[in-house]
Amino acid sequence: MRILDVGCGINKYPGAIGIDRNPASRADVICELDHFPYPFADRTFDQLRAIHVIEHLSDVIRAMEEFHRLVRTGGRVRIETPHYTDFSSFCDPTHKHHLNSFSFRYFGENHGGFGYYSAAKFREISVRVKTLSLWRWLGFEFLINRFPRFRRFWEHYLCYVVRGKAMEFEFEPLGPAVPAGGPASLSGTP
Ligand SMILES: C[S@@+](CC[C@H](N)C(=O)[O-])C[C@H]1O[C@@H](n2cnc3c(N)ncnc32)[C@H](O)[C@@H]1O
Repeated sequence: MRILDVGCGINKYPGAIGIDRNPASRADVICELDHFPYPFADRTFDQLRAIHVIEHLSDVIRAMEEFHRLVRTGGRVRIETPHYTDFSSFCDPTHKHHLNSFSFRYFGENHGGFGYYSAAKFREISVRVKTLSLWRWLGFEFLINRFPRFRRFWEHYLCYVVRGKAMEFEFEPLGPAVPAGGPASLSGTP
């Protein structure tokens, strides 16, 4: 099992190859994640983990395309990131993005209706929202994760009060790898 831990910091996943720009991290390869391509061949990995890192990167779309290129068909991409209503999303000034549980829809079913952003496609295997403890004890976390329509309702109407904490996504890359030099053409360009 070849695992890439993107932005591994000092908590590199056991057995993974870690990449990070910080020489004080446990990275095996020091690399700037805003520069593409990352130094690996197409489809090198069975699994890619990006744990609390995507919110630090300049271009979420391009980073997702790079994740798509690096993971083999049938492999897994795991992303963990704060929900934008959590304290942690805004207390770190190095966060460039503040995301919600629909922030990766451009890569999913029908590209979320916006096919011109990226040709990269992923199957969404799971999305899990973690809430603050009080809301978990009151059953909101269960409802959000059990019923996708309730999650949408929560994002639209409730989340500024019933605040989220973190999100865990698991994706499988679909279709051909996006070329290392970046997408040559975008599907559905208007
Ligand atoms: C919040 S830490 C998460 C570390 C680790 N994944 C964890 O869960 O403990 C974010 C990591 O991403 C790295 N990082 C942020 N932006 C980066 C970039 N543009 N290029 C390379 N590494 C970056 C930082 O150096 C840091 O190690």
